[in-house]
Amino acid sequence: MRVEFKQLETVSDPRGHLVSIEVGRNIPFPVRRVYYIYGNKEGKPRGYHAHKRVKQALICLNGRLKVGVDDGKTRTVYELKSPRELLIIPEMIWRVMYGFSPDAILLVLADQHYDEADYIRDYEAFLHAVREKTPPGGVPR
Ligand code: TYD
Repeated sequence: MRVEFKQLETVSDPRGHLVSIEVGRNIPFPVRRVYYIYGNKEGKPRGYHAHKRVKQALICLNGRLKVGVDDGKTRTVYELKSPRELLIIPEMIWRVMYGFSPDAILLVLADQHYDEADYIRDYEAFLHAVREKTPPGGVPR
């Protein structure tokens, strides 16, 4: 699984905590878009898609949520419950965000502008696209 879950370095002093995100240091791609998701009152799941090219980094700034990721072979669930945690999701990973607490604020940093054409919203189409790149022996071409 190419997804990475990391603890962010945090500068703490009696005034509180500070986390710095620096491209090339703790984010491995240039950031061209930032968006955030909040106000998920009924714990409604989101996502159910993969991106053909877009890479993303997720930070739960407040509250908590779960992120299920799937590379077509393996599924893993990460719980984001602290603004010190960073989840990096590269391209071609199916993801579902769920179990949002009502106060959850999910910050997403992406390496490309929004483009609906970059989305794969059909799970079978995702599996097909992933398997095309991986022959039966499992060794990438
Ligand atoms: P969507 O990607 O379906 O959200 P999620 O991944 O959380 O399920 O996006 C929801 C709507 O917001 C959809 O109409 C597209 C729009 N949108 C933008 O305009 N810009 C963006 O950067 C994103 C991520 C979505």
